[in-house]
Amino acid sequence: MDFFEVVYRRRSVRRYKPEPVPIEDIKKMIEIASLAPSAHNLKPWRFIIVYNREIIKNIVEAVHKSVNAVVSSKNVPKDLAQKYERLRYYFTFYIDAPVIIVICGEKVITPSREAVRLAFPEKSSASPVNSIEQSISAATENLILTATALGYGSCWTTGPLVASDDIKKILNVPDNQDIYAIIPLGKPDKEVTPKKPQKFEEIAQIIK
Ligand SMILES: Cc1cc2nc3c(=O)[nH]c(=O)nc-3n(C[C@H](O)[C@H](O)[C@H](O)COP(=O)(O)O)c2cc1C
Repeated sequence: MDFFEVVYRRRSVRRYKPEPVPIEDIKKMIEIASLAPSAHNLKPWRFIIVYNREIIKNIVEAVHKSVNAVVSSKNVPKDLAQKYERLRYYFTFYIDAPVIIVICGEKVITPSREAVRLAFPEKSSASPVNSIEQSISAATENLILTATALGYGSCWTTGPLVASDDIKKILNVPDNQDIYAIIPLGKPDKEVTPKKPQKFEEIAQIIK
């Protein structure tokens, strides 16, 4: 598959064949993820590869528990709670995925963000953008595109991070790291059709 075909064929895949994903393929995904650009070249990404069924089940159970807490919270209006309840599947569908990759990142503040924060202490946030998060997202996109190129289906998920604290405990994530996403992976259970791009005029403007 050439680069463009890979990008067209990358879709969120939530159902997988049970066949295992060899560690060599995961290592290739991580290798290509590590080539992503990163703010100040900090390369803040870290990866936890979970094949263990019991641990995946424990993560899913922790997510169910957190979703229950949100849905039953007296602070969440009923209609919003109902909308959130409908997302439960999207936060937990990977219970039978052959493997999940948990994308972690070091809690670092870029020198430029720190300098701006010190210069303008009255501003609540030095900048609306978080370049560490963006760097980790760049690595994540490289990873899922590599998964597509190798014939796997994957899905970038952040919904499960409602249970981030519990998941960090389950996986022994060190205190100096956060979890940014969970990527379940496997051979797609059915053929993936290429995506249709958005129209240029709808999303871009040219300034001459
Ligand atoms: C930052 C981010 C978070 C996402 N979180 C979830 C999630 O928690 N659960 C899920 O099923 N899909 C999740 N998705 C997948 C999106 O729903 C999906 O990318 C979107 O609907 C477009 O479909 P496509 O990926 O097939 O192009 C997420 C995607 C991104 C980029």
